[in-house]
Amino acid sequence: MKFELKGKDLQSKARAGVITTDHGVIETPIFMPVGTVASVKGVHQRELKNDINADVILGNTYHLYLRPQTRILEQAGGLHKFMNWDRNILTDSGGYQVYSLSANRKIKEEGVKFKSHIDGSYHTFTPENVMEIQRTIGADIIMAFDECTPYPCDYNYAKRSMHMTHRWLDRCVNHLEKLPFKYGYEQSFFPIVQGSTYKDLRLQSAEYIANAGAVGNAIGGLSVGEPAEEMYAMTEVVCSVLPEDKPRYLMGVGTPINILENIALGIDMFDCVMPTRNARNGMLFTAHGSINIKNKKWEDDFSALDEMDMTYVDTEYSKAYLRHLFSVNERLAMQIATIHNLGFYLWLVREARKHILAGDFRAWKEMMVKQMDKRL
Ligand code: GUN
Repeated sequence: MKFELKGKDLQSKARAGVITTDHGVIETPIFMPVGTVASVKGVHQRELKNDINADVILGNTYHLYLRPQTRILEQAGGLHKFMNWDRNILTDSGGYQVYSLSANRKIKEEGVKFKSHIDGSYHTFTPENVMEIQRTIGADIIMAFDECTPYPCDYNYAKRSMHMTHRWLDRCVNHLEKLPFKYGYEQSFFPIVQGSTYKDLRLQSAEYIANAGAVGNAIGGLSVGEPAEEMYAMTEVVCSVLPEDKPRYLMGVGTPINILENIALGIDMFDCVMPTRNARNGMLFTAHGSINIKNKKWEDDFSALDEMDMTYVDTEYSKAYLRHLFSVNERLAMQIATIHNLGFYLWLVREARKHILAGDFRAWKEMMVKQMDKRL
């Protein structure tokens, strides 16, 4: 994997770069649509490519390990072939889902024993087997196995957990050395900074992660219920330590405003279920604020879904039509809303990139944050 910085904003820490992997180019800042179970819910791969223009999507080790299971992905020749997606894939390690989804999980030094949310069966994730599973899934970027602490989190728990995440990182790195690439292309490994909302822990963790010398670095344990200001404070501290010449990925973030604020602090990569999950509930993000398309006020509004026309659904369908589809529970409603929201998120990060390169990112960001902070 190669990362080249193409430009830096002078009034903030924002950067524009290019990541190159064996599955192509990712222009940063980037947003990665979440495709948990080998599908971005309701969206065809050809729409992700041709309409939404996603360079990279995210998959989840926890889900893919449970279904379809690694042996099926191995038989298929990896996740890219299985789902017919020839651009980039990043897989999260399960170090988040195992805490949020499974019942009866027990975290020990060795790893995490958990009960499947599908059939109640018991499984164990360790740093070692999670590296093996991710090798078999075959994503271009794979993540360290970590513990994502909840919010709020007691200082001593956060500290102990952070040290365990660091020891797990060493185990991931040692084990990966023994595991060759499976499908003929390179897989890059990103470690994850933890430390909850404590500046001293975040600094310590960022130093540990930076010292691992990986090709890219991630920040976890944020957007778990803390106020946005605390998230930004942690991002700022961590970005002051993580190397400039490697991509920085902020996991699980966030709203369009969170994304712009974190780009300003030096983040290059984002993922979040928000555009897809909220779309399925009828919430649309736009450059002028968010819309609940189920509201009666849209009943006879025959104007374009979004006159800014970021994807074809924006001008091919009206607000009144989409509201109708939601009210009669048509699944096309969710598909249209999802394409719109992903199209908007990808537009937003591409636009951010243009403004970083043009040198007016900060002013544009301030204007956009004001504009998007509305409910229409
Ligand atoms: N996704 C969002 N936050 C986290 C985190 O802290 N760890 C991992 N592995 N994934 C995440």
